[in-house]
Amino acid sequence: MRENEILEREQLNDVVVKFVIYKPLVAQSARAGQFVILRGAESGERIPVTLVDWDAQKGTITVIIQSIGKSTFMFNSFKKGDEFVNVLGPLGTPIDIKKYGTVTVVGGGVGIAEVYPIAKALKQAGNKVVSILGARTKDLIILEEEMKGVSDRTLPCTDDGSYGQKGMVTDILKQTVQDGEKIDAGFVIGPIPMMKFTSKLMAELNIEPYASLNPIMLDGTGMCGCCRVTVEGKVRFACVDGPMFPARHIDFDELIRRTSEYKGEEKNAVEKYEKDHKCKIGLH
Ligand SMILES: Cc1cc2nc3c(=O)[nH]c(=O)nc-3n(C[C@H](O)[C@H](O)[C@H](O)COP(=O)(O)OP(=O)(O)OC[C@H]3O[C@@H](n4cnc5c(N)ncnc54)[C@H](O)[C@@H]3O)c2cc1C
Ligand code: FES
Repeated sequence: MRENEILEREQLNDVVVKFVIYKPLVAQSARAGQFVILRGAESGERIPVTLVDWDAQKGTITVIIQSIGKSTFMFNSFKKGDEFVNVLGPLGTPIDIKKYGTVTVVGGGVGIAEVYPIAKALKQAGNKVVSILGARTKDLIILEEEMKGVSDRTLPCTDDGSYGQKGMVTDILKQTVQDGEKIDAGFVIGPIPMMKFTSKLMAELNIEPYASLNPIMLDGTGMCGCCRVTVEGKVRFACVDGPMFPARHIDFDELIRRTSEYKGEEKNAVEKYEKDHKCKIGLH
């Protein structure tokens, strides 16, 4: 086995792929809430992805990647036996795993993969775990069985009603609390607007909210300032101070603005990739 080699590849749906990678040093020290930075080519971008699972004995880590632009599309075309050029990590501050009481973990789309290690660690710490898994439609709900394995209750929901309850994660959370579930803390990962509204609702329902922020990152070690976010009026770097932050006072609108800053360049990069590889990605 070679360092950074892909040992397993599983297509979870049209746009999401699970990779098991040989990376013993990361596997030995990974903790819930941390991430790695991947590069797929010598001239490639540095792309942060969450450590979804790890096995210190086998020396493997698991990442789950959604094709969204040039680099993630390239990664998801990799096959078993291929290698990433770099796997840097573990990066970021691990989540504070302790006994909160009853916790909810809320994942949207590929965010379901990102909340899985958090649900697992919180369950092991003795919490009652209520997991809410949201997506636009049935095919985009991933890891349901794995989430059931680490949760006391698992509540899938889809915007179009094709699977689980019809509605958004905020509807399901509100209903669950109205039905009598008393929840002490909540952890949400997904698209930024979803994290914004879920965090706000959690605060209104007296649930201590935490959200994992996904600004554009470069070095991932606190040097470049690229991943700057504003939390409780203070500038924080998501790569070292986060990515999970207490979410009552996050400036989500600034995060939306900053992650949209390179839309033009991202569109051009996809178009050039399609031209060079004579393929149609069908994104953007
Ligand atoms: C801490 C963290 C953990 C993440 N975990 C996962 C994960 O487990 N699975 C997953 O599929 N995605 C994850 N992401 C998001 C992933 O990094 C982006 O989807 C990816 O960088 C997009 O690159 P691209 O070239 O394919 O797309 P592009 O077309 O370049 O970008 C699409 C969008 O992705 C975001 N983005 C672009 N470049 C970066 C970058 N260098 N860093 C962060 N965001 C960027 C921007 O919002 C951009 O608008 C995570 C992001 C962060 C910050
Ligand atoms: S990515 Fe450079 S400071 Fe966080």
